[in-house]
Amino acid sequence: MNSERPPWLDAALLDAEAFGLDFPRGTRGAAAREIPRGAAEPAANPVTTPRAAEAALDAIAREVEACRACSLGACRTRSVPGQGSAQARLFFVGEAPGAEEDSQGLPFVGAAGQLLTKMIAAIGLAREQVFIANVLKCRPPENRDPAPAEMAACRAFLMRQIESVDPDVIVTLGAHATRSLLQREGPLARMRGERHRCGRAELVVTYHPAYLLRSPDMKRAAWEDLKRAKSLLDAPSRA
Ligand code: URA
Repeated sequence: MNSERPPWLDAALLDAEAFGLDFPRGTRGAAAREIPRGAAEPAANPVTTPRAAEAALDAIAREVEACRACSLGACRTRSVPGQGSAQARLFFVGEAPGAEEDSQGLPFVGAAGQLLTKMIAAIGLAREQVFIANVLKCRPPENRDPAPAEMAACRAFLMRQIESVDPDVIVTLGAHATRSLLQREGPLARMRGERHRCGRAELVVTYHPAYLLRSPDMKRAAWEDLKRAKSLLDAPSRA
């Protein structure tokens, strides 16, 4: 037992160990209740009053739906703008919708999404408390990698979503999300080991859940990243 373990982590970490780091489902204790934003947060942020943030996110979703800036707009079933709380303090960024997401219009609802939901639960949060979006809002055919031109065409939507939600911590899932937000090339393993910011938010780099499904040995490293994201959320509020 680790005596330095913060109280919020107890149930989740014990479960994670018991599950052999197969991220636990539904650790909904005290830590899963609304996370209060710190009192030191700047009061005047016009974008992040709850109503303004929701309106901004709705407007972005409508623009995404109408977007034909790249060819993906014409071959998708549904656009997948993103999902979650407009007041989320934790914001996850994935790569692009897959088949299930394309059919439902919601991010991370397939196999990788089920693992992501467990990863979120493992740090004591519910999906509804965070915001989840992708670099691309439309599915690339055959789930191929996003093309640079598609990422560039879609990037403003993601940046406006981040500005609207104004999270304290962003977790990028995999190389495409990390490179898009940091606007930097480089191996994921190196960027994962560094500290980053994205605007007002701390940015934590971790592995994509689809990769974790293929490489379960890497779950332990992802678990460390998630604990770091959670400890940043628990740290005194940003200036
Ligand atoms: N993979 C992603 O990157 N995003 C999704 O929404 C689903 C799978």
